[in-house]
Amino acid sequence: MSARIDDLLARMTWEQKLFQLQIVWRTQTDEQHDLARRGIGAQFWAPSAAATNALQRVAVEETELGIPMLIALDVVHGQFTIFPTPLAQAASFDPAVAASDARVSAAEARGNGVNWTFSPMIDVTRDARWGRVVEGFGEDVHLGGRFTAAKVAGYQTELAARDAVAACLKHFVAYGAAEAGRDYNTTDLSTRRLRETYLETFRIGVAAGAASVMASFNALNGTPMHAHRGLLTGVLKQEWGFDGVVVGDADGVAQLVDHGVAVDEKTAIVLAIEAGVDVVMGGTLLVDEHGAALLTPEELSPARVDDAVRRVLTLKERLGLFDRPYVDEAAAVSTATDDARAAARAAAERCLVLLRNEDRVLPIAPGRRVLLTGPYARSTDHLGAWVQHFATPVRETLADALAAELSGSLLQVADGSGFFDATDAQIDEAVRHARGADLVVLAVGEPSTLSGEASSRADISLPAAQRRLIHAVAQTGTPVVVVLVTGRPLVVEDWIDEVDALVLAWHLGTEAPATIAGALSGRVNPGGRVPMTFPRAVGQLPTSYDHEPTGRAPATGGVVLTNAGADFTGPNNTDDYYTSKYLDLELGPRFRFGAGFGYTTFALSALQVRDAIGIARLEEGTSVEVRVRVENTGDRAGDDVVMLFLRDEVASLTQPVARLRGFRRVALAPGESSVVAFALAADDLRFWTDDGRHVLEPGGFALWIDDGTNRLDARLTVTDQESS
Ligand code: NOJ
Repeated sequence: MSARIDDLLARMTWEQKLFQLQIVWRTQTDEQHDLARRGIGAQFWAPSAAATNALQRVAVEETELGIPMLIALDVVHGQFTIFPTPLAQAASFDPAVAASDARVSAAEARGNGVNWTFSPMIDVTRDARWGRVVEGFGEDVHLGGRFTAAKVAGYQTELAARDAVAACLKHFVAYGAAEAGRDYNTTDLSTRRLRETYLETFRIGVAAGAASVMASFNALNGTPMHAHRGLLTGVLKQEWGFDGVVVGDADGVAQLVDHGVAVDEKTAIVLAIEAGVDVVMGGTLLVDEHGAALLTPEELSPARVDDAVRRVLTLKERLGLFDRPYVDEAAAVSTATDDARAAARAAAERCLVLLRNEDRVLPIAPGRRVLLTGPYARSTDHLGAWVQHFATPVRETLADALAAELSGSLLQVADGSGFFDATDAQIDEAVRHARGADLVVLAVGEPSTLSGEASSRADISLPAAQRRLIHAVAQTGTPVVVVLVTGRPLVVEDWIDEVDALVLAWHLGTEAPATIAGALSGRVNPGGRVPMTFPRAVGQLPTSYDHEPTGRAPATGGVVLTNAGADFTGPNNTDDYYTSKYLDLELGPRFRFGAGFGYTTFALSALQVRDAIGIARLEEGTSVEVRVRVENTGDRAGDDVVMLFLRDEVASLTQPVARLRGFRRVALAPGESSVVAFALAADDLRFWTDDGRHVLEPGGFALWIDDGTNRLDARLTVTDQESS
């Protein structure tokens, strides 16, 4: 409890309190200043340190109470220096990558007067049609949780520091479960699924000390999240003890009217604030230009308003804004510095995933004649979604970077196709050059605008023009390496078997071209893993590796691909007919969660875990150690990603066929080995029940270590009795 805040609260009028509970975005300076003068609590960034200081000065010096404003901006994967997209970062399986993005982002943002970022986006995502998968850390809760914690710590450090910003966990909650992958769409989930999958990254982010949480646009089980008292207040604030600020999403409060749960915006605001929203984003002003409040204390509970105001003022105090409201304009940077670029490049180098490399066509051997073609040969669109106009643009093309990287080789560049169109002449030119080359690098993908908010796609394959180019070039017989630049998992079925190598390059940010070129030459070892399943077809979505078993597991897939009749021996073996599969698709995804390898090889050995442990000891806090040796058995240095999975074999509720419970990215020189140890605690073995209990049941757990290529298995029994 702060005396300053108690004092302020005691002196504030109802109108002054209400106006602390709103954030708006205005582009005109006079409007921004007018709102500050009238005492609004928060605004979006006025795009420079000087403009923000000027705006903040109005709030501090020209209002009766002198309360500084929260200044917010979506700094999602960089403000000026752009890091790989969050989904790409997750592919690194190295939370230090997220921490490094957060440190650079926070310094750039706070230095310019931003004290609140609407990031990290920690929605678990299992449907690649949803464009916002690019903003999050993929399909896995454990991986997402580790990245969440790293990003929160990186943004916030000590909130009052000159290079720290308040983080905002978004979007609370289940936004990633939008039905049919269509943005803003409704969600309907069991308690168990909600707890196990969608709430968990938020629980972790709150435990990591995140200063704020944003409500999501979706309705959940019939209640729009902006009005969800049970989750915003019951779970987030009461059960988890979250004492920060809950902010609504843009016009999300007003949209309770569109959801059909409020008759008008005033009712919507009451519903939202009573449910636990502390700050309303956008919509009608809570206090008008004559200083009149939109709602009376009879309409909106004063105690709730006081609580919300206290949360807002406490955040301002924690940020040190009362003592130091302005930033040092001379020290503010507004473009990527060399140091920031170096950090972004180091991060990008860890995010590439090698998914195919037949006959080891990669890395490109010296002296080869290489054709580079496809829209990403010359496009600089590598920044990805959620980047604003002031971001530092990518300064070179892949063509430039590859020419520099492969000096000594003969590099030819042909457009081949645009993102969406290809002329016959373009394709013919690419084919002609491909015939004369030793290797073709086809740089294809989704431009940044195809993923992100409101960018759901019903068809997640490459645009037709690019597929035409791939087929035409592959037909020449010259080995083809595809560099796939994308914001989401794509369906690659119609061309993947025609090409020799696939490097998943995502949108890697400011330093993308040199990073990709480095991976092609072998200077950079692509050591990431897939953080979100690549399906074979859109019809498989949503999908994730940690699905539950059915009573009818299939042994074969695609049984009517070749023959519509059934027989007992052929591909339509009726023994396997009534199983859980698609008649017209092979089993499983194209690239599973955790897929990926590199330019060297690894061996796993000496997996050690105790056979049994008593449940009481686990409950008391004893953990089970799992150890495994990993060795670089190849002739190049490289990184392996060692993942620990488990499956609860028999439980009172069906359990996922696999759950990631630990991972470690290990760098090893040729011949070098290292022992990786994981600790399994009771919580790692628990599951949620539909009546909201987090239980540990005795029984067998299959454990295994997987690195994308190799697998070692073990088993742990949790016994009823005490065992030594
Ligand atoms: C809407 C988006 O859903 C949210 O992620 C973002 O932070 C706000 N707009 C503010 O820009």
